[in-house]
Amino acid sequence: MTVWVDLREVTVQWGGAQGLRQVSFAISAGERVALIGANGSGKSTLLRVVHGLITPTQGLRNCLPELRQAMLFQRPHLLRMTALNNMALGLWLDRAQGLSWAQARTQGLQALARVGLHAVAGQSGRTLSGGQLQRLALARAWARAPQLLLLDEPTASLDPSAKREVEELIHTFAQGQPDVSLLFASHNLGQVKRLASRVVYLERGQVLADLPVAEFFNSTRLQSVSAQAQAFVQGEH
Ligand SMILES: Nc1ncnc2c1ncn2[C@@H]1O[C@H](COP(=O)(O)OP(=O)(O)O)[C@@H](O)[C@H]1O
Ligand SMILES: [Mg+2]
Repeated sequence: MTVWVDLREVTVQWGGAQGLRQVSFAISAGERVALIGANGSGKSTLLRVVHGLITPTQGLRNCLPELRQAMLFQRPHLLRMTALNNMALGLWLDRAQGLSWAQARTQGLQALARVGLHAVAGQSGRTLSGGQLQRLALARAWARAPQLLLLDEPTASLDPSAKREVEELIHTFAQGQPDVSLLFASHNLGQVKRLASRVVYLERGQVLADLPVAEFFNSTRLQSVSAQAQAFVQGEH
């Protein structure tokens, strides 16, 4: 399988604080990887390094040339304009697509319809609910046809029904594109089981376990790899 991004012994340090400690991690085409761990364990830092937003203090990041990747944050940032124009602007600015503004608006409307936001296309982005915002962010990411989609706790700030809707959309998008890889941070172990094929457990900036999902949730197997990871999973139940 094609490796999209490969981190070798990556350390990220801010002054005295350490975000990651000698993390080696690779993600290949079609993998669905969940990042779990307590707050401050380094999940967001790992996502940002993979996305190229943070340069490692030490270690190497190798990335497939011209890899198309997109990232979703816990709370999407929108500009003061309609939902449709927010959508269209992202498409229009993506030089690889070379769209006119009118084409960007047409495609933007189609993308909004795919995530069930057709009816609010003309509303200000500021009036959207948390779940609608996250669906818009997903539509925006998806319109760029990413090979690697990074999601940082995409449903953490949503109410239960919106959580479910956004998770369903992520699932639907991923299913239609078997080569697309997902790398997502989550505190929701149910969601991890539903979406992930592989689970990475972080503690204080270190990867303590990296296993296929079935092995990760097999307590005997996990215990043999990392007692800390097993204790974390037990504590979450
Ligand atoms: N910009 C930053 N400056 C200084 N320390 C940071 C910064 N971002 C994260 N950290 C620290 O790095 C560690 C990992 O943080 P983070 O990756 O955000 O964890 P998580 O996403 O798992 O909650 C924490 O100790 C955090 O305080
Ligand atoms: Mg985080």
